[in-house]
Order: sequence, then structure tokens, then C-alpha cells
Amino acid sequence: MNPSLSNDEQLRNDANTRAFINRELEARFAPEDAALRSSIIRAQAENVPPIQISPLQGKLLQVLAMACGARTILEIGALAGYSGVWLARSLPPNGKLISLEVSPKHAEIARATFAAAGVSDRAEVRVGPGLDLLPTLVPEAPFDLIFIDADKDNYPHYLDWAIKLSRAGSLIVADNVIRGGRNFQIPPPDADAVGIAAYNRQIQEDPRLVSVAFPNDDDGMDGIAISVVRG
Ligand code: DHB
Ligand code: MG
Repeated sequence: MNPSLSNDEQLRNDANTRAFINRELEARFAPEDAALRSSIIRAQAENVPPIQISPLQGKLLQVLAMACGARTILEIGALAGYSGVWLARSLPPNGKLISLEVSPKHAEIARATFAAAGVSDRAEVRVGPGLDLLPTLVPEAPFDLIFIDADKDNYPHYLDWAIKLSRAGSLIVADNVIRGGRNFQIPPPDADAVGIAAYNRQIQEDPRLVSVAFPNDDDGMDGIAISVVRG
């Protein structure tokens, strides 16, 4: 804190410093290759909202998947396949990513992204509402890692299914558990905050889980929760 700076200047400094740190971390730990970069360009060209995870979050997912020796990964919410590429690349050759997507258009783009990234042999997109598709996955369970990044009001239901489809030692990861603090406001400002506040409470209170959450998006205003399913 530099006392000679105005509030505005201080905030700009802070934002610039955060952006600098992010750029440096990303360059060192999570550089995007051509396939990841072109996945962003493809999504932009198709007017997909630019709400994919950051490269460092993608790398975090990879590290988590490899830490739990993931061979089977379930993603709830494919969007255009950007996070799916990070996840699929963490799998061994005989591993499998199943990514659920409610929008047929986004699912088509995600498939093209997987093909362009060379992971179609291990990454599959299934189209439909998550709550319709999840019960059909019971024969393919357990999943070693489950990544939840879909409609926020359904997060508590996705968590119930994630636990059903997991094993002791599985990781359940959820994006957007902070949303600039809106998820902690009382009363909750929107339906998304209601859903995620319930999710955060459940992962913290459920005796089957050990959980943590922390800010880790580009500007420190949103973040991911990680839960491990107890043995
Ligand atoms: C939104 C959804 C996301 O999953 C995200 O990471 C950011 C924003 C949204 O719906 O606005
Ligand atoms: Mg998200």
C-alpha cells in the first residue's frame, strides 16, 4: 500500500500487479498450445460465451486428475470443450472423459475441439440436461474425478450425483463457487447464488467429503472448490 496514491491509482496498481502475476504464472505453468488457443478462437467465432476456465485452472485440473490417478473423468458442462482438452490430456491412453452438455450447438463445437486437439479417442460429449444424463452413467461409474461447471442452480443436485458416481478417493471439483462474493451474500442475490451457497454448505458439512475452496480465476474474484470423497 503506497499512501501517496489515490484510491483509484492504488486499485489500478493492484489490478495491474494481479494481471502481471497471472501472466507470469500462466507463461511458466500453463502455456496454451495451438489446440487450446484455436479452441478459444473457434468458440468466439461461434458466439459461445467466453466463460471457459483459465489456463491455470486447466492446469490445476490436470494436476488433480494425475494426483488421484484418474482413468475415468466426468465433466458436467462441456461448453466448447476447452476444459475438456485439459482434462483429457491428463488421462492415460486407455482413460476416458465423458463430458455432458445441454446445448447441442455447444456439444458439436466441443466435439470439434476434441478432434482438433487429438483427444477424441478418449473424450466423448453426451448431449442433454445433466439431471437426465447423470442417472444413465451408473453403469460407467465410478469416476475418479468429477468436474462440475454447469447451471449453478443445479449444483446441489450435481453434487448428489457426483457422490453417487464416485469412489473413496475420487475428487469432486466445482467451478464458480465464489462469484465475486455473491455466493456468500445473505439473502442470496440470485438463483445461482442460492444453488452455489447450498453447494458450498453441503461440501463443507457432508461427512463423506473433505473440502476446500479458494479464489483462483484471473482476477481473484471467483474460484474452485475441491472435495475428496472419504475412504
Ligand atoms: C458463468 C458460468 C460459468 O461457468 C463461469 O465460469 C462464469 C460465468 C455464467 O453463466 O455467467
Ligand atoms: Mg465456470
